[in-house]
Parts: sequence; C-alpha cells; structure tokens
Amino acid sequence: MESDIPHTIVEDLERSSDLSPPRLDPARADFADAVLAGFARKPRSLPCRFFYDARGSALFEEITQLPEYYPTRAETALLETYGEEIAERMGDARVLVEFGSGSSRKTSLLLSALHRVSVYVPIDVAGESLAEAAEWLSERHDGLAIRPLVADFTKTRTLPIVARRPKLGFFSGSTIGNLTHAEARGFLVNAAHLLGRDASFLIGVDLKKDPAILIPAYNDKRGVTAAFNLNLLERINRELDGDIDLDLFAHDAVYDGIEGRIEMLLVSLASQTVRVLGRAFRFAKGERIHTENSHKYSIEEFQALARAAGWTPAHAWTDADRLFSLHLLRLA
Ligand SMILES: C[S@@+](CC[C@H](N)C(=O)[O-])C[C@H]1O[C@@H](n2cnc3c(N)ncnc32)[C@H](O)[C@@H]1O
Repeated sequence: MESDIPHTIVEDLERSSDLSPPRLDPARADFADAVLAGFARKPRSLPCRFFYDARGSALFEEITQLPEYYPTRAETALLETYGEEIAERMGDARVLVEFGSGSSRKTSLLLSALHRVSVYVPIDVAGESLAEAAEWLSERHDGLAIRPLVADFTKTRTLPIVARRPKLGFFSGSTIGNLTHAEARGFLVNAAHLLGRDASFLIGVDLKKDPAILIPAYNDKRGVTAAFNLNLLERINRELDGDIDLDLFAHDAVYDGIEGRIEMLLVSLASQTVRVLGRAFRFAKGERIHTENSHKYSIEEFQALARAAGWTPAHAWTDADRLFSLHLLRLA
C-alpha cells in the first residue's frame, strides 16, 4: 500500500514497465488484453463477459436464487404462464438458438412448450457451464440434438448448423441489458443475419423501476453479488499472474437514472499499486473499476431499439408487478 504518489507519476508508472506479457493461449490472451487495456484507461473498466469462469458461473446461479434477485423468478414465471401462447406465436421453427445460455434452466421450460424444436444451439463464453447445461438438458429432452458453441455472442457470425426452416432466437436473463444501447442495436442487427429470414426472437428484458428494488438486486445482504464481482479480481490473480489484494477492493452497485442502468463497481479502499502480468497499475483510494452495466428499458424503449435494428415487435408479456418483460420480435 502506498499513499502519496501524485497522479502524474502514477501515469508514468503505468507506462514505464518494459516487461512484455508472456505468450498466452487465445482465451487467456483475450482476457489479458482486456484487463491491461481496462486498467490503463480512466475511468477503469473491465468487460463483464469475463465474470463467467467456472466459479463466476456458479456464483451467478447462486444469485438467481437470492430473495433480492427478482429477474430470474419473474422471467421464469412469465415462461411458465405464457409458454403455450409464446409457442403458438413463435410458429413452427425447428431450431432454437440461445445467446448467453448459461445453465439453460429457463430454456427447458421453453422447449417443453416448443414441441417441434429438434435442434438447440446454445452460445456462451463459459465453456464449462455450456457442457454441464447440455448434459442436463439432454437428460430432460429426448431426441433433442444439442450443438453448443463456445463463443462471444457479439462476434458470432456463423452457426454450427445448416437449417432451411426459420430459426428461433432466445436471449434470456436481461443479458441484453449488459450491452450499451449502441452495442445492443449492433447485437440485434447481427442476430438478424445469424437467424435469417422469417426468424422469431424471444428476449427477456428487465423493466425500469424504483431504484429501491433495483439496487438490492445487485447488492444483496448475503454478499453473493459482491463475491461474484470480486471473483473478477481473483480470476486476474489466478490467470494473469496478478497480485491484487481482494481485501483492498469493495463491491458497489449504483443506479444511473440518466443512462437508466445499474452500474457494478469495484472500489479501491486504499491508495495502492497492483501488478498484472508484470505491469504495475496505481489506484487512488476511492477509484472505481466499472465492471458491469445493466440497462433497464420500458416496453416502448425496447421496441424502438428492436425496430431500429430491423426487427418488428410482435408481442410483449409482463408480470402484474411490471418487474420484467418478454419481447417477441419477428423478421419480416
Ligand atoms: C446474466 S447470465 C444469464 C444466463 C441465463 N441466460 C439466464 O438467464 O439465467 C449471462 C450469460 O451470458 C454469458 N455471456 C456473457 N457475455 C457473453 C458474451 N459476450 N458472449 C457469450 N456469452 C456471454 C455468460 O457466460 C452467462 O452464462
């Protein structure tokens, strides 16, 4: 811990290291590039897709069970209540493509209603949870062909299947909220190309609401979300030869009413230097690393975004408390 180095020297310190990172495999190199760039910029930030190593994915599943974390319960209830209606409106697609599929628990509900789907393509960066989910689903859905794809869904340009019939997309958990509006629009444009003509797309989107409900969902009493956020630093220590003292960072979640989003942060509790792959980074006391955005949308805002990306909103379902929404979009 060092307390009194002025900022100008800090900048030099960050640029001064002449140690080149060792050669890494592509996944680690991707992580290393993101961390070194994210720590070098001000304000500091890290992409949230790196939360999901094996421990991060397990912690996310724990979050979904928390009393404060309403999105999973609300979205599951919508799928249970409206499953048949959703299936009727989605038409006779045989191929279901899911983006950020995680444990695929909600997918199982959807598949039970979509009787004609025979091929399922889950896309996720988390290889281990993808494999576990594929096994879990295959035990429950006889005859379903599962073709998992370990990939970044913002960069996926081809699918591991060829199918002439219309495809169905599924993007649950309000993961689309992790993208900025511009990124979300780009994602939807790409998804339209990927899914092709006459596709339908079912997207779970968290609704705007009182921050008194939102903030506890991202800062629970048991500290599971804090552990999830801090695991990103542990992952840096594990995979990128980091020396970050986890006791010197704290989890925080704030609501930005102008951007309409929850921001997850890691706050430096002291003036300190951390090292990653031989590079030194100075943090001032109180300095923040922005680790995740969770944008919230009204029904109309999300429909406008979908239209701007070339999709036609076909229907939207919400719960009585207006916590969460499920949007069905179509490609003309
Ligand atoms: C918020 S969780 C939602 C999981 C699941 N859909 C649900 O609703 O419970 C986000 C999921 O998306 C995956 N993910 C996040 N960013 C990704 C990206 N850029 N490309 C592919 N998968 C990503 C994570 O690994 C994780 O499984």
